[in-house]
Amino acid sequence: MNTSLQDLGVTSGDVWLEISYLVAAILFVIGLKLMSHPESARKGNLWAAGGMGLAMITTLFLHRGEDGSTIGLNNIIIIVFAIVFGSIMGTLIAKKIKMTAMPQLVSFFNATGGAASALVALMEYSNPSNDSALVTLLGLVIGAIAFSGSMIAYGKLDGKVGDIFAGWVKYFNMALMLITIALMVYLLAFDIDQSTQTLLAYALLAIAIIYGVMFVMPIGGADMPVVISLLNSLTGIAAAMAGFIYHNQAMILGGIFVGSAGSILTILMTKAMNRSLLNVIIGSFGGGGAAIGQEHGNIKEITLSDASVLLSYSQSVVIVPGYGLAVAQAQYACNDLVKLLEAKGVDVKFAIHPVAGRMPGHMNVLLAEADVPYTKLVEMDSINPNMPNTDVTVVIGANDVVNPAANDDPSSPIYGMPIIKAHESKNIIVMKRGMGKGYAGIENFLFFNDKTRMLFGNAKDSIQALVNEIKEL
Ligand code: TAP
Repeated sequence: MNTSLQDLGVTSGDVWLEISYLVAAILFVIGLKLMSHPESARKGNLWAAGGMGLAMITTLFLHRGEDGSTIGLNNIIIIVFAIVFGSIMGTLIAKKIKMTAMPQLVSFFNATGGAASALVALMEYSNPSNDSALVTLLGLVIGAIAFSGSMIAYGKLDGKVGDIFAGWVKYFNMALMLITIALMVYLLAFDIDQSTQTLLAYALLAIAIIYGVMFVMPIGGADMPVVISLLNSLTGIAAAMAGFIYHNQAMILGGIFVGSAGSILTILMTKAMNRSLLNVIIGSFGGGGAAIGQEHGNIKEITLSDASVLLSYSQSVVIVPGYGLAVAQAQYACNDLVKLLEAKGVDVKFAIHPVAGRMPGHMNVLLAEADVPYTKLVEMDSINPNMPNTDVTVVIGANDVVNPAANDDPSSPIYGMPIIKAHESKNIIVMKRGMGKGYAGIENFLFFNDKTRMLFGNAKDSIQALVNEIKEL
């Protein structure tokens, strides 16, 4: 017996819609592939955005509800208004934001993604045609945690929210987790009337929001990168859940891509920070405070002319860029310095710590912007064995990622975190404005090391002055 698509109630519009989702998925994959390299990352963003745009437009015009109805003119007007409003706001914010505030903005956008998924789940939970209660509740909880957690991360990156360290937080969070699971089981396993169901769904939303706040609150100092990538992956998972609710392949795929990329990043970050994921989830690590138990010693400064001679007559120089390089926007000046030294026969490499800066890949993006060849960037694990043979390590606006306390001070909050072993090289020049602390808020004894010389000042000014000095040698 031959059954045509029409007999099954499938229209050509449905077929085109599914084909457009397939094309969108292919565009996402191409985009992701291009994003894996700094030089092609910008193009990758455009390809993925094209895929998302295609999925949005075809959904708008070709999607039909369970009863076969199309979206309807009224809804189209509301949706188009929301898209136009969102696009204008997004463009204005992204254009206005300073490069150094980008990490906060990414956290804020992540929060909005979580909130959107949680709202979809909340709305659809009481929809009688919704056949996926478990997925809906998971979307609600995960989306709400991603929302409130990312808002706290935004506040912390912006310096507006401090850390809370208290022994009870860990137990409080575990209790919240247990209550959440119990409520979900109760909602799924028992036959409850509609109004109680709705009430409990709101209660779940509130608990998940509180949990998001409380699990990010204690994570302080250098440990934020792990939590940021985890929140990223939660938003992706929540979006995928929303896709399951609507049986929408493009949403499911987009969410899974973000969720899995975020999960891989989280695993890489936990490895890079030498932390346990379970401890992140219950919010029981991190913390500020100062490393104790060591004498400060003396700070020694270096003059521009001494620095220029030292660098020019070295064989190998390793530059360790950090957050201060981004603040000073010194990446172009830095590239000039590299070219100049290379012209003098010096071998120059950049040592890239996975959490340097304030967002994953921050240093890679920054240096790619200034056309620093990608081959010059060496990962922490590959460069560390060469540090004892390095003539000069130039630390530019980095602090926590070269703090030896992470290796040898068990009382330090960053103890156990792998660092770039600048202290093992033969000479160290540190460029920073003063004796300001890094994100972890702790003292750095590298600055008091016998082999270290400080070159105080804004990184861009110092590098430009150094370049001029070297040119005159
Ligand atoms: P930080 O430890 O934050 O140190 C940056 C240093 O740059 C500061 O000590 C500051 O000292 C100096 N600085 C600031 N502005 C400067 C300027 N204009 N010119 C020269 N120096 C300047 O940076 P890092 O070593 O890159 O470490 C990153 C930290 O952020 C880690 O603790 C990491 O865990 C955390 N974090 C990372 C991420 C991601 S995903 N990468 C996200 C959140 C948090 P002065 O004030 O004395 O100049």
